[in-house]
Amino acid sequence: MDMEDIAAALVAPSKGILAADESTGTIKKRLDSIKTASTKESRRDYRELLFSAKDVGDYISGVILYDETLRQAAKDGRQLTTLLEDQHIIPGIKVDMGAKPLAFSDGELVTEGLDGLRERLAEYHDLGARFAKWRAVISIGDGAPSQYCIDANAHALARYAALCQEANIVPIVEPEVLMDGDHSIDECYAATETTLKAVFDELYKQRVVLEQMLLKPNMVVSGKDCPEQAGVDEVASKTLYCFSQTVPTAVPGIVFLSGGQPERQATEHLNAMNQLGRQPWEISYSFGRALQASALAVWQGKPANVEAAQAAFLTRARLTSAARDGEYNADMEANA
Ligand code: 13P
Repeated sequence: MDMEDIAAALVAPSKGILAADESTGTIKKRLDSIKTASTKESRRDYRELLFSAKDVGDYISGVILYDETLRQAAKDGRQLTTLLEDQHIIPGIKVDMGAKPLAFSDGELVTEGLDGLRERLAEYHDLGARFAKWRAVISIGDGAPSQYCIDANAHALARYAALCQEANIVPIVEPEVLMDGDHSIDECYAATETTLKAVFDELYKQRVVLEQMLLKPNMVVSGKDCPEQAGVDEVASKTLYCFSQTVPTAVPGIVFLSGGQPERQATEHLNAMNQLGRQPWEISYSFGRALQASALAVWQGKPANVEAAQAAFLTRARLTSAARDGEYNADMEANA
């Protein structure tokens, strides 16, 4: 498959992406929450549970993996990527090295990982990865985001994306404006719009082929601690309006991150956007927490709970898939 075909397959009708690429530090936090030690084996068991859930390929087109998982074998000795491919799921890989303090800024972050990236991408392609992810983090509050931080992150995102396409790997470009803070939805709108303008400006300058990438943005939402929370319809209309101002129609798909929204809320927002009619881009998902939270809570690190955790994961995947098609409603939660 060429890169256009892979991008199209990732945003095929009824399907979206599972982000299971938590770094070793982040997965430890998730496993701590269910009082399970984070070891190579427990991380493998958890990812194996997700990837081997029966028929999950009906809802999940691709999975973003962490370096360790891409190289890891299941309990029966098969590679975890083979489990995915058997379910017609495309393996992807997180290639950034995390967000670090940006020099001469007031606490803002820039994502690292460009050094040696060309060589790493070649190896990842050999290991079966056909798409990649790089996450930039933009925060709101106290004068942030600065144009300096936005530009530094946009530049790195474009350098990453160009290197991916050179290696025949579809880049997912992820500039995440964080929900943390008490800012209004309009402040989130402004930060998201400025960020996306800078990102597409850099992608253009660095010759990235828009047809061969996907955008993974935040939704335009109220800050987590904002006393006046915007409703579902306002989130959907402001988010789509923001993209209409910033995202070229040559981009095949927009796959949202969930960003700490509860599972059900992320599903409602995605559904509302898909109910607003056809857009120039496919509107789909690349959720981490909003696909995994229930499964993790049910699993509790116990082999006896694997089937129930898989059922919880499949339920969430089915409901998110319905929302991707604009066919979700709240009654489906009760009947799930
Ligand atoms: P969340 O959906 O939990 O935000 O994770 C998606 C992701 O990949 C963040 O980089």
